[in-house]
Amino acid sequence: MKKTPKSSSTKSASDVLLQRLDKRTARLAVIGLGYVGLPLAVELAQAGFEVFGIDIDEHRVKQLNQGKSYIQDVPTADVRTLVKAGRFHASTDFSVLKKCDTVNICVPTPLSKQRDPDVSYIVAASQEVAQHLHKGMLVILESTTYPGTTDELVLPMLAETGLVVGKDFFLAFSPERVDPGNPQFNTRNIPKVVGGVTPACSKVAVKLYEQRLDHVVAVSSTQVAEMVKLLENTFRSVNIGLVNELALMCARLKIDVWEVISAAATKPFGFMPFYPGPGLGGHCIPIDPFYLSWKARASGFEARFIELAGHVNGHMPDHVVELVAEALNINGKAIRGSKVLVLGVAYKADIDDVRESPSLDIMEKLRERGAKIEYSDPHVASIRFAGSLLKHVPFTATQLKRFDCAVIATAHKDVSYANALRWSKAIVDTRNALKGKVSKKIVRL
Ligand SMILES: NC(=O)c1ccc[n+]([C@@H]2O[C@H](COP(=O)([O-])OP(=O)(O)OC[C@H]3O[C@@H](n4cnc5c(N)ncnc54)[C@H](O)[C@@H]3O)[C@@H](O)[C@H]2O)c1
Repeated sequence: MKKTPKSSSTKSASDVLLQRLDKRTARLAVIGLGYVGLPLAVELAQAGFEVFGIDIDEHRVKQLNQGKSYIQDVPTADVRTLVKAGRFHASTDFSVLKKCDTVNICVPTPLSKQRDPDVSYIVAASQEVAQHLHKGMLVILESTTYPGTTDELVLPMLAETGLVVGKDFFLAFSPERVDPGNPQFNTRNIPKVVGGVTPACSKVAVKLYEQRLDHVVAVSSTQVAEMVKLLENTFRSVNIGLVNELALMCARLKIDVWEVISAAATKPFGFMPFYPGPGLGGHCIPIDPFYLSWKARASGFEARFIELAGHVNGHMPDHVVELVAEALNINGKAIRGSKVLVLGVAYKADIDDVRESPSLDIMEKLRERGAKIEYSDPHVASIRFAGSLLKHVPFTATQLKRFDCAVIATAHKDVSYANALRWSKAIVDTRNALKGKVSKKIVRL
């Protein structure tokens, strides 16, 4: 017998949403237009949806509506095209959610002063969503957070409206894995893990991402999806901690740690190279493992690997300061009164983001010990340092020769470190940027 199609009045809320997503008639919203939210909003708009971006930062909203991007990996031309076509609108007004079928929350999740999770941004955004929650709406949290956040924190706020999850509205967690500055992997081709509160929630969330992303991986719950992200970043933090410890050990044993890692990396299975450095930086690796250890502690479990890696990695900026003292000593100088130039303040190569950058920590520690600090970074025009605005020093022979010591803290591809060596009186290399160079001026991590 032939099935008669259901009329829209008898269709379930999930069927209606699935159909709208399929036909690209759904209106989508993204809250938080930063490194994660803006690329996502642009991808969804490029898939043919009308997308509303919401941010509390008026300046960002204004720039976007003028067709300008402030995120390095999102071309201004893409934003301009979408704004002109009426497919992307930015706003500070959350009431646009009333007309949206889906909303992805991509707000910051920093640590508090006590190094505990600060979920106040998630709470603020969820309260706004709750105010405009309506039947058939899909809400997805993308901010990195401790396992249990979606079910224990976000769901109660939304359920207070009287709407029922999995029937009237849908809630899921999907961790963001974007890697700013990575030319190979982006929002579209990085597999997307999704876990819903109920099977219906998972189904509609998967459907949304499938409209644009190459590969969607459904997991059984929001907690699993939350934990996946924390495993990934804890894995990095612990392995970086291990090689940082190995670097300190090799220095004692007078073995070149970089040569050791590069030879070990020739093993075609069971080994993955991680590299030592001046400390952890960015919005994820230094922060996310502490979301997990906090949650574990709350359940009476001590996450010892995480704490130990945090301890080793957190010590690296102090170690770099000692290397600077060693380098200055080559020319009989002390830290106090010396001019030190930090090369690279972005937290990693080829990007312009200085959040949690270990360079800032090193600069502050050197300043406290009496050094005169400046920095050179072609990706970062200026930074706030010691209460004032500090401008990037142009990378020229005349400029570099003014300093008693240079410190390679981040090695960008577009900087000639051979020139840095030529023009510096002494140089600390924390990134193996001077690989193969032999000079009495070099002090290596
Ligand atoms: N940056 C990365 O590489 C990366 C990668 C993976 C995951 N994450 C995670 O994604 C989340 C977002 O990180 P990000 O790097 O995009 O942050 P970001 O600081 O670049 O952007 C966050 C945006 O949210 C806005 N915002 C803050 N509170 C808001 C509110 N209540 N309502 C609306 N907008 C609000 C801010 O103005 C800002 O524009 C964090 O949980 C982070 O840990 C980041």
